Amino acid sequence: MTFPNSPDAAPFSPDANWWRQAAVYQIYPRSFSDHNGDGMGDLPGVTARMGYLSALGIDAIWLSPFYPSALADGGYDVDDYRNVDPRLGSLDDFDAMVSAAHAANIKVIVDVVPNHSSNHHGWFKDALAAAPGSPERARYQFFDGLGENGELPPSDWPSHFGGPAWTRVVEAASPNAGQLGQWYLHLFATEQPDFNWDHPEVREDFHTTLRFWADRGVDGFRVDVAHGLAKDMSLPLRSKPELEILVSDGSDPLFDRDAVHEIFEGWRTVLNEYTPPKAAVAEAWVPFTERRLKYARPSELGQAFNFDLLQAHFDGVEFRAIAQKCLVEAAASGASSTWVFSNHDVIRHASRYAFPDESTLADLESWLMADGVTPVTDQARGLRRARAATLFMLGLPGSAYLYQGEELGLFEVADLPHDSLQDPTWFRTGHQVKGRDGCRVPLPWTPTGENFGFGGTPWLPQPAGFGALAASVQDGVPGSTLEMYRAALKLRRELQCEESLEWLSAPESEVVHYRRPNGWEVLTNFAAVPAVLPPGVELARVAISSGESVVADEGATGAGISAGTIPAETTLWLAP
Ligand code: GLC
Repeated sequence: MTFPNSPDAAPFSPDANWWRQAAVYQIYPRSFSDHNGDGMGDLPGVTARMGYLSALGIDAIWLSPFYPSALADGGYDVDDYRNVDPRLGSLDDFDAMVSAAHAANIKVIVDVVPNHSSNHHGWFKDALAAAPGSPERARYQFFDGLGENGELPPSDWPSHFGGPAWTRVVEAASPNAGQLGQWYLHLFATEQPDFNWDHPEVREDFHTTLRFWADRGVDGFRVDVAHGLAKDMSLPLRSKPELEILVSDGSDPLFDRDAVHEIFEGWRTVLNEYTPPKAAVAEAWVPFTERRLKYARPSELGQAFNFDLLQAHFDGVEFRAIAQKCLVEAAASGASSTWVFSNHDVIRHASRYAFPDESTLADLESWLMADGVTPVTDQARGLRRARAATLFMLGLPGSAYLYQGEELGLFEVADLPHDSLQDPTWFRTGHQVKGRDGCRVPLPWTPTGENFGFGGTPWLPQPAGFGALAASVQDGVPGSTLEMYRAALKLRRELQCEESLEWLSAPESEVVHYRRPNGWEVLTNFAAVPAVLPPGVELARVAISSGESVVADEGATGAGISAGTIPAETTLWLAP
């Protein structure tokens, strides 16, 4: 079966379509590279590593927030949308980083966080200083409480990080100065007050922010919590919506409401003021592909993250079914598909796949509980499967979003000392759920030293095992995870062509085999045992393999494949 491009899939010149099949590398700036030695990664650190990024072979970098922030949620609590956190550098440093990236032929995507600001944002400070009902309060979601004296929150909505989604303020303006007063909504941490997107100034200000960064040369935007902006706050507020699992029929007052699309049509108008138009990708945890793809229409953002593969088991039948569904639906909407296995919010895929096969989501969650169970994991297997999954994904049509450190085979650091944890989840669950710090530990660049070449003493401690995975240890070593990524990203430029593929294996097979229109083939054995190679697959065509020993030793390659088998949990790319 093939997946034709939709007729409106390519409205711009080839350069304007750079994002459709780009390999995008996510940088979590505080954990990437620390240039000034204060223990926090920074923008000059990114600039200094541009050679590494270029050699990796990615097409773009996406930077998680680097804006001024008190870091209540790792920077997703933004004080000022049009500036750089002084700990991470200056606007000049930002410009230097963009120039260096462009000189290396790497595009730059920045994160926009429109659902909420931080509680240090100028507008929120004004809102706190002003009285209930004032224009300053109207930019956020301030409501009177329930109960005789307003002592109960306006609704029973929980915050995404635990605890209630409402915080009561002490009024500052007379005549109620000093008294407990209204409540404001924060779907995330207390320090992240939700904006009121019905307010024209909020809409206008984000257009200004988009233009600010676009004028500085960024090539695209990643839109945080894109599905949350339009809310139905009509009274009486409806009772507890499902904050994680959406009904997605438009009835949820908080998420994925149809009204949100008008906002992004406005954004597209701004993004199209530029030549080529700026790219954008929505972070919208909407479980139904057809609803998620509305964000990705050419008239809106162009892409939406697809987390379906990320949530799948390492299973050939599941992987193939998901890939097929996503490709068909993306093509129908005019979007290109996106693929992602790891990011700053989830357990790293090398660790997810290290769990025993019968593991459930509850087992993964338990691992990150303060008193949870530590599973018997098999790290070698986790990495073997992660590498196979990555090569399966890098061959697919569409964009691949990679998360810093996965090219080193980094694993989740689930046993960080409790007193080092910083994720708001840890605090808002009363120290029950550890949260996402385990995937945010600063990168190891060299095998030795106090901080493995990261810079200063890292803001999260690195485990001893990180040294062996350092970039310099893997550099130039055939078969290392770093070299596998480099080789695959280089070959991917030859492999990527028209956005379609043809399945060569049966839907129920654990050996999944597809062919791109230019003749490149990708073959993954998802099974835990070797599989017989399909007829016609010749050793001479194997351009790359995810199997470490296979790549490391040509003899082993020959042994594994000439015997007519593909090793367990391995992906091969076959040149035309
Ligand atoms: C997104 C970000 C996450 C952040 C949340 C609130 O899901 O990826 O890191 O905590 O939004 O901004």
